[in-house]
Amino acid sequence: MTLPPNPPDFPYPFIAKVLFTPEEIEQRVNQLGAQITQDYRTSEKLLLLGLLRGSVMFITDLMRKVHHPMTMDFMSVSSYSGSESTAFVRIEADHKTNIAGWDVILIDDIVDTGYTIYTVRKLLLDRRPKSLRICAMLDKPERHKVDFPIDYLGFSIPDYFVVGYGLDIDEKGRNLPYIAAVDLEKYKKSLQ
Ligand code: IMP
Ligand code: MG
Repeated sequence: MTLPPNPPDFPYPFIAKVLFTPEEIEQRVNQLGAQITQDYRTSEKLLLLGLLRGSVMFITDLMRKVHHPMTMDFMSVSSYSGSESTAFVRIEADHKTNIAGWDVILIDDIVDTGYTIYTVRKLLLDRRPKSLRICAMLDKPERHKVDFPIDYLGFSIPDYFVVGYGLDIDEKGRNLPYIAAVDLEKYKKSLQ
C-alpha cells in the first residue's frame, strides 16, 4: 500500500490520507437516512441500535435524517485489541430495550472481519425482533471472514485501517470530522 505524504496540518503524524471529507460523509448519511425513512414508513416500532463506541457519531447524524418516529439504544461489545480483530466477541453492556416485536436496525461504524456484527446479529435474532437489518458506515469486503447482508452501507473501502468520524486507533482519532487512512508503520513508530 503506497500512501501520499502526510500533510502538515493533520493532528496525528500517522494520518496518511483523507478518504472521505465531512461533506462526502454528510451527503451519504443523508441518502441513508432517506432510504431508511422510506423503508420504515409503516413501522410502528423502529429502533436504531448502535454499537458503542465507534458508531456514536454516525448514529447521531443518521437519526437526524430519519423522518419517522424512532428510538435509540446502544450495546457495547469488544472483539478488538489494537488494530487486530478476534473471533471472540464479548458483550460489555447490553441494550435496555426489550426488542421483541421491534424493527431493529443494528448500526456499527465498520465491518472488518464481520465477526462482531455476525455474532451480535445472531444474539439479537434470538430475542425475536420483528425485523433486523444491518447498517454500517464502512465496509472492508477484502477482510470478511464471515458473511451476512449489509442492508445500509455508507462506503466500501480497501484494506486500510481508518480513523475519524467515530473510529479510533487505540482510542485516538475518534473526533476527527473526516475518515482517514492510518499509516500503520508510522503509528507503530509513534508509540516508541
Ligand atoms: P470486525 O468484528 O472484524 O468486523 O470488527 C469490527 C470492529 O472493529 C468495528 O466495530 C471497529 O470498532 C473495529 N475496526 C475494524 N476495522 C477498523 C478500522 O479500520 N479502524 C477502526 N476500527 C476498526
Ligand atoms: Mg466498533
